[in-house]
Amino acid sequence: MTGARTSEPLISLEGVSKSYGTSDGRAVEAVAEVSLRVRRGEFVSIVGRSGCGKTTLLRMIAGLLPPTKGSVAIGGRTVTSPTNEARLVYQKPLLMPWRNSLENILLPLELKGRDTKPYEKRAAELMAEMKLAGFERMYPKELSGGMQQRVSLARALIDDPQILLMDEPFGSLDELTREELEFDLVQWIEVVGKTAVFVTHSVPEAVLLSDRVVVLSPRPSTVELDLEIDIPRPRHPSVWSDKRFVDACQAVRTSLGMKLHEEPRDS
Ligand SMILES: Nc1ncnc2c1ncn2[C@@H]1O[C@H](COP(=O)(O)OP(=O)(O)OP(=O)(O)O)[C@@H](O)[C@H]1O
Ligand SMILES: [Mg+2]
Repeated sequence: MTGARTSEPLISLEGVSKSYGTSDGRAVEAVAEVSLRVRRGEFVSIVGRSGCGKTTLLRMIAGLLPPTKGSVAIGGRTVTSPTNEARLVYQKPLLMPWRNSLENILLPLELKGRDTKPYEKRAAELMAEMKLAGFERMYPKELSGGMQQRVSLARALIDDPQILLMDEPFGSLDELTREELEFDLVQWIEVVGKTAVFVTHSVPEAVLLSDRVVVLSPRPSTVELDLEIDIPRPRHPSVWSDKRFVDACQAVRTSLGMKLHEEPRDS
């Protein structure tokens, strides 16, 4: 149930391009003319080959990087600085080793100079939602990689941001832990209906989690495919054998594969 989903775009990228200046004086065009709209409550995955500009795109949505051309807006307001509306979750959990789980979850509030006391209950609730009840006082070294990533998800959600931006959050986990987290995340988003942009290299992961999968072309990235995933929720493990799931994965793979063949080789 993603009851909060509406047709209103919460995130709008209009003709967004990004060029980087490199240390040897060249310009690298990472993203070229990407236009993308994400509706409120929608879960959109972005896939594309390594180096095509996915992280660059997420950082521009978060307001951490200005586009060279075009604009990013959240809720109709142009993003010009790090936005409070979105939180980024990275491939590595990036927890402070000297802080226990609860203290790590509360850290972003502390860094903003906010009183963390009123959020302690919410932090404990998030730990429970992330299936970590009982581990509140444990330190990162006492948690598995999957558990650490659950803590980092809870930390991103502590002050209920409108948008969750995730950059290959399960990329460094083993296959079984990854599947477990995928299904927990799919269940969780079905309940809360949070707007999310999720970067992954895994085609099945993208299809399983998403309302839409966006395939980016090799650098400079443009939108190659924008595919609506028409599989009802809740999604259970049985989805792996659903024809719609298999067909969607195939369409995404074809889109990625075709472009790989067309990629000009460096001479
Ligand atoms: N700070 C930077 N300065 C110069 N070039 C950069 C910088 N950051 C990224 N790039 C270049 O921009 C391109 C896109 O990088 P980006 O990290 O967005 O790709 P990605 O799709 O996230 O890759 P991956 O899947 O490997 O994480 C790459 O060619 C990269 O070398
Ligand atoms: Mg990246």
